[in-house]
Amino acid sequence: MFVDESSLPTPPLLAGALPTGVTEIALEETQSTNEHALALVRSGAAPHLTLVWARRQTKGRGRGGRVWQSPEGNVFFSMVLRPQANWGDLSLLPLVTAVATHAAIRPHVPAPRALTLKWPNDVLIDGAKVSGTLIESHRLTRRTDVDRWSAEALVVGIGVNVAHHPTEGLIYPATSLRTAGSAVERDQVIRDLAQALIETLELWRHSGFAPIRTAYLERAHGLGERITVRTSLNLDESISGVFEGINEDGALLLRLDDGTVRRLVVGDVFFGASTPNPGNAKETP
Ligand code: BTN
Repeated sequence: MFVDESSLPTPPLLAGALPTGVTEIALEETQSTNEHALALVRSGAAPHLTLVWARRQTKGRGRGGRVWQSPEGNVFFSMVLRPQANWGDLSLLPLVTAVATHAAIRPHVPAPRALTLKWPNDVLIDGAKVSGTLIESHRLTRRTDVDRWSAEALVVGIGVNVAHHPTEGLIYPATSLRTAGSAVERDQVIRDLAQALIETLELWRHSGFAPIRTAYLERAHGLGERITVRTSLNLDESISGVFEGINEDGALLLRLDDGTVRRLVVGDVFFGASTPNPGNAKETP
């Protein structure tokens, strides 16, 4: 079988319509919607805008090989993208996705709560993580002729804590839409994510990265403040400085104490001058 055997398909059960062009695959339970979508890609059965969502994941994947806790009631969303003409470099996709996720969640977060972005693509409510994104690729290559990444397909995996959020073993505080005072249901968030992702990808295609970068910076948490970026998985390599912004390549710009600016392309951001104690940190929300 080409998809993981624990996947139990159900009929499409989203209440309400998805945007035109989306092919919906609804699952009762799967190990990981990203893995299911990648398996479909590998088998040739996943056109552009195939959306895999599940009620539960048994092995939800987070960034950096961490676990994504995946109880029923939250959103587990994976969209297959086939790179389109006039998209910019694929390294910008995490920031495009972040702006889209923020737009999808925004209407459901009651005032005066602050909805911000943590580089590269976490969404925070009052500083606690409500959503994370893991982008995985199929046949990713570096095109040396144009110095750009290309891929046969990408899977944008977005998790949103709608009804639940983890409370233990976190390297970063977490929250949920419910805790923030929203009554929105999972299906509505899935529809809004699909719509916002498609619209933001269209903006990128038509207008380039500049308006997305502007939107990102308007929503960025801790801009101009001291942050620490953990640059390794074992939490013991980190670098502190002032969060100056992001550049036109989507890299984070960090002004060090000696005045030089470091350009970072991977890492986990923490606000303040230190990272959590590695001994207490097991997984991320
Ligand atoms: C992060 O560590 O912040 C990224 C979390 C990404 C979780 C989502 S849930 C849907 C998709 N399937 C997965 O296994 N992971 C992503």
